[in-house]
Amino acid sequence: MTIGVCYFPEHWPSEGWERDVEQMAEAGIDTVRMGEFAWSRIEPERGDIRLDWLAEAIDLLGEHDIDVVLCTPTATPPKWLVDEDPSILQEEADGTTRQFGSRRHYCFNSAAYREETERIVRIVAERFRDNPHVVGWQTDNEFGVHGTIRCYCEDCAVAFREWLAERYGDVDALNEAWGTTFWSQHHTDFAEVDPPRHTAAEHHPSRLLDYYRFSSDSAVAYNEFQADLLREVNDDWWITHNFMGQFGSLDAYDASETLDLVSWDNYPNGFVQDRQTGKPSLDELRAGDPDQVALNHDIYRSALDRPFWVMEQQPGDVNWAPHAPQPGEGAMALWAHHAVAHGASNVLYFRWRRCREGQEQYHAGLRKQDGSPDRGYHDATRAASELPEVLDGTGTADVADAPNPVDAQVALLHDYENLWATGIQPHAANFDYWEHLLTYYRALRARGIDVDVVDPNSSLAGYDAVVAPTLYLVDDGLAAHLGEYVRDGGELLLTIRTGVKDRSNRLHETQQPGPLTGLADVTVEQRETVPDSVDTEIDYRGTSYEYRTWAEWLTDPGERGDGTTEVLGRLATDVGTDGPAITHTATGDGGVTYCGVWPESSLADAVVTDLLDRADVGYTERLPDGIRVARRDEATWVLNFTGEPVTVVVGEESRTVDSYGAEAVAYDGTDIRVE
Ligand code: GAL
Repeated sequence: MTIGVCYFPEHWPSEGWERDVEQMAEAGIDTVRMGEFAWSRIEPERGDIRLDWLAEAIDLLGEHDIDVVLCTPTATPPKWLVDEDPSILQEEADGTTRQFGSRRHYCFNSAAYREETERIVRIVAERFRDNPHVVGWQTDNEFGVHGTIRCYCEDCAVAFREWLAERYGDVDALNEAWGTTFWSQHHTDFAEVDPPRHTAAEHHPSRLLDYYRFSSDSAVAYNEFQADLLREVNDDWWITHNFMGQFGSLDAYDASETLDLVSWDNYPNGFVQDRQTGKPSLDELRAGDPDQVALNHDIYRSALDRPFWVMEQQPGDVNWAPHAPQPGEGAMALWAHHAVAHGASNVLYFRWRRCREGQEQYHAGLRKQDGSPDRGYHDATRAASELPEVLDGTGTADVADAPNPVDAQVALLHDYENLWATGIQPHAANFDYWEHLLTYYRALRARGIDVDVVDPNSSLAGYDAVVAPTLYLVDDGLAAHLGEYVRDGGELLLTIRTGVKDRSNRLHETQQPGPLTGLADVTVEQRETVPDSVDTEIDYRGTSYEYRTWAEWLTDPGERGDGTTEVLGRLATDVGTDGPAITHTATGDGGVTYCGVWPESSLADAVVTDLLDRADVGYTERLPDGIRVARRDEATWVLNFTGEPVTVVVGEESRTVDSYGAEAVAYDGTDIRVE
C-alpha cells in the first residue's frame, strides 16, 4: 500500500525540488505522478525537445525511493501546434470552436492530432525507456472533463459515417434500425449523416444514442492508441488512465479493457455539490457522500476486477465546486482509508503545493503556496503511516495482476448505454439514472453489503443476488443471460424502466419489460411520472411507504394464471390504486423481484433486505447515514463520515470511531451495529 502525490516541478524553481522531495519522503509518500500538462515545457517550439528538467526531477525522486508515474502530455496541445493546424480543435454542437486557452481542446478523431500524439509520446517514452524509477504511465488526463468527449467537427463527421457504415453495412439497415421515417429523416447514403449538431427541436433518440456510442468509442480508441505506443517502447510498464467520478459520457468499462490498471480522481466535497439534487448537510459538505464516492470505487475496481488507484485525491478545499467548504478534521485521511477499504492499492493526493499562478490558485495542495504544510499534509502523513500496517505489504508492484481484494456477494448492474438512453429521454425532470442507481446502492451499503458494480453482460455466476436498476435497453441475448442466472439459483431485482427499448433505442414491439416479460412474469400496464412535491403511497407487504418520480403498474399476475408470482406491493396513489407494482416470481432455483416504483429509502431498504433474505446473504443492522462499513481481504473498516464520534459494536467488541475517522478491524461477520 502506498500514498502518493501529484507533483508539478515545472511550476517551481528547481532549487526547491530537493526540499519538496525530502518533505514527501518524510510524509511517507512513495509515488509521484508528473507531466500531464507539460507539453509546452517539454517542447516550447516544434522540435526543441527539453526533457532534462523532467529527468532531474525523476532522479531526485528516485534517490528517495519514490516511484514515478509519468503522463503523456496530450491533454494540453501547445499554442504553436494549434496555430500550425487549427483543425485539431474540438467543435461544439452549435459550431463553436473550443479554442486554445485552457485544456482538452483537441479532437479524438483528428488524424493530424494522432500524428502529433505519436510523435510526442514516443519522444517522452523513449527518453525514459530504461529509467528504473518510472514504473508506469497515465495516458493523457481525465478524458471528457469539461464535457469534451463529444465533438461535432468535420473530422468527427467523417469518422461517424465510417463508424455507422461499419455498424450497419448499408444505409437501409440504418434507416430501419433508427426508424428514420419519423419527421422525414430518411437517408440515402452514409455520406449524408452528420453529427447531431444544433437543431430547432430535439434530435432523433436513435441517432443521438449512436453518436454517444461513437464518441465514447473514439476516446477509447485514442486511449488504446496511446497505450499501444507506450507498450511498444517498454512492455514492462503498466498503463492507466485517471477516470472521473460518476462520469457518464465515456464508457469506463470499454476504456479499461485497454489498460492494466484503472484509476480515478476523487473529490468528495466538490462532487457532492455537483451531483446532489437535495440539500447536502454540513457533514456531507465536509466529508462528501460516502455512497456516491463508494459507488465510484466499486465501478473502477470492478472494471478490471482487481485493485484500483485513486490517482487524484482531494487534498483540501477545491476551486471548481459551487462552494469550497473545508474538509472535516481528518477527512482527507478518512478518504484514503475509504478507498483502500474498497480495494484501492494506492491513493495519490492532488497536488503537492498550492500553485501561485494559473486557473487553480484557489485549489489546495498538501503544502501551502509558501511551502508550509497545509491540513492535507498532516492527513496524508497519517494515512501513509496507518494504512501499510493494516494492509501488510499490498503494494504497487503487483498492480497489474493482483486479485480483486473485495469478495462481493452482490452485484449491481450498470450500463453506460442505459445512462445515455435515459438521459436522451428522461421523461421526468427529476429522473436521473445515477440517482436511481444510488437509491439501491445506498440501501445495500446501509446494510454493510459489499458490492461489485458490473456491466450486465458480464458473468454473474459468483453472485448470490443481482440488483439491476433501470435495465433499459434489453435484447434477447441479455434476457437469456439473466434467465440463466436466475434459473441457476440467483435472485435478481429489476426496477422501473426495465426492458423498455431495443439496442437501437426504439420501444420493443412487446410491452415492457420486453424480452424480460417471461422471466419477470409481469407486464407494465401503465406508467406515470410525478414531481417531488406530490404525495405518493404504496403498500408493500402491509406497510405504507412513499415513492418518488416514477410509478409503473403491472398486469395482475393472477390474470395470467401461472401461479408462481406473488404481488408484494400495490399502489395506493389515486389513479393507479390497487395496481400491482412490486412482485416476486420464483423461477428455476432462483427468483425475480420487479419493483415498479422508485422507492424512498425505507422502501428501498425493505425491498433490498427481502432480496438478501431470499438470497441468503447476511447483513448488518441498518447503519445511519454517514456511517459505513466495507470489507477487504481480512479486514473490515468502520468509516465515520459525520462530525460526531460514534460507538460501533463489531461482533463482541465495542469501539469508538472518531468524527471523520476510520478504524480497520479483523472481523468477517455481519453482526455490526451503531450504539
Ligand atoms: C481534476 C484534474 C486536475 C485538476 C483537479 C482539480 O479534474 O484532473 O488536473 O484540475 O481536477 O480538482
